[in-house]
Amino acid sequence: MTFGPSSWTPVPGAFIQKVGKDVHAYKNEIGPKAVVVMVGLPARGKSYIVKKLKRYISWLGFKTKVFNVGNRRRTCAAETEVKTGCKQNHSSDFFNPNNEDARSLRDQLAMDTLNEVISWLNDGGKVGILDATNSTKERRQRIIDRCSRERDINVLFVESICTDPEVLARNMELKLSGPDYRNQQSESALRDFQARVANYEKAYETIEDDDDEDIQYCKIINVGKKVIAHNIQTFLAGQCVFYLMNMNLAERQIWLTRHGESLDNQIGRIGGDAALSPAGDEYAEALSTFMAEQQRNFRCSKTNTPPPLTVWTSMLRRAVETAEHFNPHEFDIKHMKFLNEIYAGICEGMTYEEIQEAYPEDYKARSANKFYYRYPGMGGESYCDVIQRLCPVIVELERTRNSVLIVTHRALMRSLLAYLMDIPLRQMTKLDIPLNTLYCIEPKPYGNVLTKYQYSHDTKTFSQIESNL
Ligand code: F6P
Repeated sequence: MTFGPSSWTPVPGAFIQKVGKDVHAYKNEIGPKAVVVMVGLPARGKSYIVKKLKRYISWLGFKTKVFNVGNRRRTCAAETEVKTGCKQNHSSDFFNPNNEDARSLRDQLAMDTLNEVISWLNDGGKVGILDATNSTKERRQRIIDRCSRERDINVLFVESICTDPEVLARNMELKLSGPDYRNQQSESALRDFQARVANYEKAYETIEDDDDEDIQYCKIINVGKKVIAHNIQTFLAGQCVFYLMNMNLAERQIWLTRHGESLDNQIGRIGGDAALSPAGDEYAEALSTFMAEQQRNFRCSKTNTPPPLTVWTSMLRRAVETAEHFNPHEFDIKHMKFLNEIYAGICEGMTYEEIQEAYPEDYKARSANKFYYRYPGMGGESYCDVIQRLCPVIVELERTRNSVLIVTHRALMRSLLAYLMDIPLRQMTKLDIPLNTLYCIEPKPYGNVLTKYQYSHDTKTFSQIESNL
């Protein structure tokens, strides 16, 4: 067994894998590298799924990148135009399966993009997502053949099937504001896009079990309402399927705040389990009033009513007390240990100055690499550890259709915001997350939208403030 420079860590700080003589015996365990291949007609929400999946997998610590074949097609067309002076026509006929020239160009673009994915994986990437329609068996077989020439790359097909007319109409609308149609009249753009979809439908073949017995695939039907998983063998594929199984498109809000000021905050002590200060209690009361008002005013466009609001807090006293003024008959209130603050081990209850003086080496090491630094002492944690324990919270957040208010702590807020707003892990440890600040995130088809509010002890009100993190 080797352990050291020649061994590799799929997620440094979270998993370590000892590598024996036959590295490939482990191939299907954690799955060293993966290509997630999207499949589906245009406007079936593939890019929506891709964005979410990329956000989750990168947040888990796997280096993940999306490769979009449509972008390559547009870039190539622009380059050809500059070189030859001829404009390539990408209207609906370009997507006609009987248009031989266009079809071979499209196949070439997809394979070139796949080669780019593979080079990127061989260069240190972990998960490459190939965002394209890949809607014929022939195309998918070429992808399988190409990937099987690589030693350590697993493939997961994710087919998005959508029959919900409302979702389809919304996806179509989004397409018309996308790069292919942005500068066109909406009626002619819609006609062309519908003709494009009809052309794809002529050649579309759904994934079937007998395509290739060994392939791993999952079918997402109506954005997670129904999920079919086949032959899921690798850790990464399992993570992707479990995550996708839990997503939904419900209109709702996700609110995040730190607890009100605690007695320890007043003297700069970290960790511990202090009660709220009088100012903290004032925040707690104002928060319950503000949230009840926000909740009443929020409307789902479909039902014209607000979804229920669930309040989740950590199990630490300062967070539990911050939710004390919420009426349990009106709100569903849950306290969970997953949301407890990062545990500072032997530094619990100390101020940063005291830590610097007592453990100067640790203080330096943490400042140099806050994401991986783990506090010494029993139960001491790093940000990387916090992310691992937050996974069930994220899946639950994706599963629920309710609005949620999360009352938690600074390190936890950073970690949750990193997921929700796609902030790189190393960057998130430095986010400024002051007390008395409330973040509202609304999931939209094109991504999450953040609004920020600040509480003023002078005016005793919340007001909206600029939302750059
Ligand atoms: O100071 C409040 C606090 O929530 C501490 O309990 C916790 O250790 C710290 O913030 C996390 O922030 P940082 O990672 O910047 O030290």
